Amino acid sequence: MEINWDLLREEAKLAMAKAYAPYSKFPVGAAALTDSGKIISGANVENASYGLGLCAECSLVSELFRQGGGKLVAFACVDGHGNALMPCGRCRQLLFEHRAPGMLLDTVSGIKTIDEVLPDAFGPEDLEIRK
Ligand code: THU
Repeated sequence: MEINWDLLREEAKLAMAKAYAPYSKFPVGAAALTDSGKIISGANVENASYGLGLCAECSLVSELFRQGGGKLVAFACVDGHGNALMPCGRCRQLLFEHRAPGMLLDTVSGIKTIDEVLPDAFGPEDLEIRK
């Protein structure tokens, strides 16, 4: 599947503009291409109870299911300046769960696979094997 990285980055920026980040003042936007060719996006949504804030990736995964589900083929995340931002550790795990084989990410050091940004990951397969 053809990946239009510029479009993904633009969609991430549009999402970032809708972030609710009054506490950190650090808006984040994320966008992904799914295996059915859809582009989905999400933004961070913070909370007065600081620890309850939702990352942009959480909002993106919710949107994935709201749009009928599927797997993530390519992913881009941007900060408030529109620059590439690495997903936090928790969100790498979140993305891993919903990856398409060979999922690609736009990172601060170029395009990388999900396995490169979360090596030897724990995932759904481990639950099956260790039963
Ligand atoms: N944030 C994200 O939305 N995604 C990440 O992967 C990194 C961090 C948000 C969480 C919080 O609202 C703000 O950035 C500052 O940490």
